[in-house]
This record gives sequence, structure tokens and C-alpha cells, in this order.
Amino acid sequence: MVIRHKIRIAALAAITTLASIAFAPPVRSQSSTAPQYTADGKLVTPTGFETWVFVGSNLGLGYQKELPVTTAKESAQADTQVFHNIYINHEAYAYFREKHEFPELTMLVMEIFTAAGKEPKGVVTAGVYNDQRIGLQVAVKDSTHPSKPSNSPWAYYIPQDWEDDAHHHPLLPSSKAFGSASCESCHHDHASMDHVWVQFYPTLRKLLPQAPR
Ligand code: HEC
Repeated sequence: MVIRHKIRIAALAAITTLASIAFAPPVRSQSSTAPQYTADGKLVTPTGFETWVFVGSNLGLGYQKELPVTTAKESAQADTQVFHNIYINHEAYAYFREKHEFPELTMLVMEIFTAAGKEPKGVVTAGVYNDQRIGLQVAVKDSTHPSKPSNSPWAYYIPQDWEDDAHHHPLLPSSKAFGSASCESCHHDHASMDHVWVQFYPTLRKLLPQAPR
């Protein structure tokens, strides 16, 4: 009798667990790479993006000089040839592979490294490698986020401390979105797909039908 009672309790517990799994509301799980924000609407600087999908690396790209103050810093970096290494979060990559569109909560991270040709052992005789990280920039597609600066679904962030020159503008834990004139308009006008420079990212480009590989 006691045993049968115990079995019944165990069965009930199992059913309850299954039901709670089946009907659990969708949440941004811990492992999800969706953007996170502070209470005052700043983007929490993404970490762990080294394990996202690497979409491409560009060396020494400079942008038109007529551009706003913030990008002048970038142009200056480009004069000294830097690497731009770009990653996309897994969820957005999977969606893009299927539909050729960037879904809500797409995040792209661009890490900027100096290009160095000489290393202490003197083994390298030609070419340049990624040396010191000097920058990090983030593009986020989150059209419902209240602190977005414009009607565009995209917002742009540079989580770096520009006041601290001595330490290569160290990373900040969070940052505010830039105004749309500084960042969004050039991406809107010239990037090949939905504000993203797919034309420069071979990993995304090759997913498109009839795209050059
Ligand atoms: C004049 C054009 C221009 C402006 C203005 C501009 N960008 Fe970009 N951005 C580019 C180009 C070109 C790329 C292609 C990748 C590269 O630079 O290697 C790019 C790539 C990026 C990427 C990689 C993901 C993507 O969207 O393709 C991020 C992140 C980014 N920019 C952030 C910013 C931020 C933040 C600002 C404003 C402070 C900004 N950009 C302003 C031209 C621009």
C-alpha cells in the first residue's frame, strides 16, 4: 500500500516537472546571446563573443573623412592600418543562414587590433599579425528598445573610455548608444544588407544565393 502510494507520488512529480518544462514561458536564457541592458538603458558590453561566428576580418579600412567626430578617431586608426575582426551571435547567424535576413536581437561585435609586422624573435619576415586590441564596437538590432536613438531598428555602441588615452581606451562595462547621425546613417546608406556590411563579410556573403564566394 505504502509502496503504491510512493509510486503515485513519484509519477505525479514527474508529470508536474514535464508540464512545467512544456509550458514554461520563453525567457532569455543564460546561454542566449541576446543584448542585455542596465537599468538606465545602456548596453552591457558583450563578453564571450570569441565563441560566436566569425564573419570576417578587414585590414586597414578607412571611412570617408567628412564623417562625424566619433569616426574621426577611427579614420586616424585606419591610417596606421588596423584589423577589424567581426563576430555575429549564434542565433542571428542561424536565422540569417535560413532566411537571409537579420532577426531582432542580432548582435555584431567588431574588435579592433593593431597590425604589427615585427615580433621579438625576428622570425616573421613579411606580413602583419593582430597585435594589441585597441577597440571594440557593437551593432545591435533591437527595435523595441526604448533608448534607441532613432527610428532605425539598429543602435551602435563603442564601450570604451575615450578619456583614458594612456591605456588604449580601456573597455567599459556598459555604454550608451551613439546618435544616429554618427553611426547609423552611413550603415543605412552604404552597407549592402539591412545596415550590415555583408559585402565585406565572406562568412555571411557565401550564404546568399548567387553571391560571389
Ligand atoms: C562612413 C561610414 C561609417 C560610419 C559613419 C560608421 N561606420 Fe561602422 N562600419 C563601416 C564599414 C565600412 C564597416 C565594415 C567593416 C569594417 O570596418 O571592417 C563598419 C562596420 C561596423 C561594425 C561591424 C558590424 C556591422 O554593422 O557591419 C560595427 C559594430 C560598427 N561599424 C560600429 C560603428 C559605430 C559604433 C559607429 C559610430 C560611432 C560607426 N560604425 C560609424 C562604416 C561606417
